[in-house]
Amino acid sequence: MIGTVLGKYKILEEIGAGGAATVYRAVDTAIDMEVAIKMLHENYFNKPKAVTRFLNDARTLGKLNHPNVIRINYVDIDKFYFVMELVRGVTLKQWISDHAGKNDDAKTRIAVQLCEALQYIHGQGIVHRDIKPHNIMIDSAGNLKVLDFGIAREGSSTMTADGSIMGTVEYMSPEQIGEEGNVDHRTDIYSAGMTLYEMFTGHLPFHIEEGGKESVWPLMKKIFSEPMPQPRDKNTAISKALNDVILKALHRDRAERHQTMTEMLEHLRTVKPWASFWTLRLRALRPKPVLAWSMAGTAAVLIAAGSILYFRDETASAPETSKSPRNRYDYEESLPVQKLKPGEKININTASASELKRVPGVGNTIARRIIGQRENYGRFKSINELLDVDGIKEKTFEKIKNHVTVE
Ligand SMILES: Nc1ncnc2c1ncn2[C@@H]1O[C@H](COP(=O)(O)OP(=O)(O)O)[C@@H](O)[C@H]1O
Ligand SMILES: [Mg+2]
Repeated sequence: MIGTVLGKYKILEEIGAGGAATVYRAVDTAIDMEVAIKMLHENYFNKPKAVTRFLNDARTLGKLNHPNVIRINYVDIDKFYFVMELVRGVTLKQWISDHAGKNDDAKTRIAVQLCEALQYIHGQGIVHRDIKPHNIMIDSAGNLKVLDFGIAREGSSTMTADGSIMGTVEYMSPEQIGEEGNVDHRTDIYSAGMTLYEMFTGHLPFHIEEGGKESVWPLMKKIFSEPMPQPRDKNTAISKALNDVILKALHRDRAERHQTMTEMLEHLRTVKPWASFWTLRLRALRPKPVLAWSMAGTAAVLIAAGSILYFRDETASAPETSKSPRNRYDYEESLPVQKLKPGEKININTASASELKRVPGVGNTIARRIIGQRENYGRFKSINELLDVDGIKEKTFEKIKNHVTVE
């Protein structure tokens, strides 16, 4: 791929990769300007979900214009690549490890820029839904850029029936894990809170050990039931005010979080008075005030009920629900399964599968997530058979690279 010429663009080097796409540094030879090109892997060209996600990324970026959101310049929808501004810097993930132990003002400036970006994005009626340090870049001057709008959605409306959700569980709000049909901008507030938690403490409150044997299920249980460890307990240098901002954004019940990014930003400004001056730079560019998001009280109650279902799995009888929430998930990105080898025999823990089945409406989802952690799956014809569950709509189960894809 290096050296390949696509119209006026020449590929120079690979600079990043996600599940289905690779990002290259390239040059626009007409004006000798370096750019970034995101290109779908060839083996995903005929995968509708990957293509939809790719196009959604480009089209959503096309609607946005903000200094803290990556700018798109061009898309080729036949060859599946798009061209964007090149960030000369690092992902926030890398930045966090480079700044470990430092309690400098730079972290607050990053936090404010993230909130500014999301305030703008939400103001355009868009929910990003995959906010995490890997999808945020920091350039060498300390400017933040939000990337990767592959699963972004317009508005807070209920998802379409064939909608699916992907993402990294650690940064995902409880409602996004449990009831993705009912997710609004407050899911980004949670993910931003989680990003701030990691940035200021150097840790995630709940996580799966790298290469560890722990499945996603215990992690999800922690997200739903364990008290959030105080950021200040992990880093005593964190002020009470900052601790409060992070914990409020991370409230399990979204009705208790900051209700808008504007509110979170105002709260963040109380941490350091000068932080408000920093944001003046962006104010002139902000087009519209944030949408008046409707706070559906009933929806909040439903979400709370959905959460309870998760941790009631330990009791023998699961509560009845009149209507199960619709759940559809995809493994891409969230569950790399390096250990899976096609054709090997299954070794699923049926006890845990049936335990999960008792949780109405969410059993399938959890079970489907857990399968990604299993080492063997070849003997079963379908995922339904493998998990001993019904109601799964997907027809094929395929391993591509290190990811399992369900379509
Ligand atoms: N405009 C850019 N400039 C520099 N690096 C980028 C740019 N866009 C993406 N990257 C790098 O590529 C990685 C993957 O990009 P991303 O859009 O998140 O793809 P995916 O949808 O596959 O996750 C990012 O984490 C980042 O390291
Ligand atoms: Mg990404």
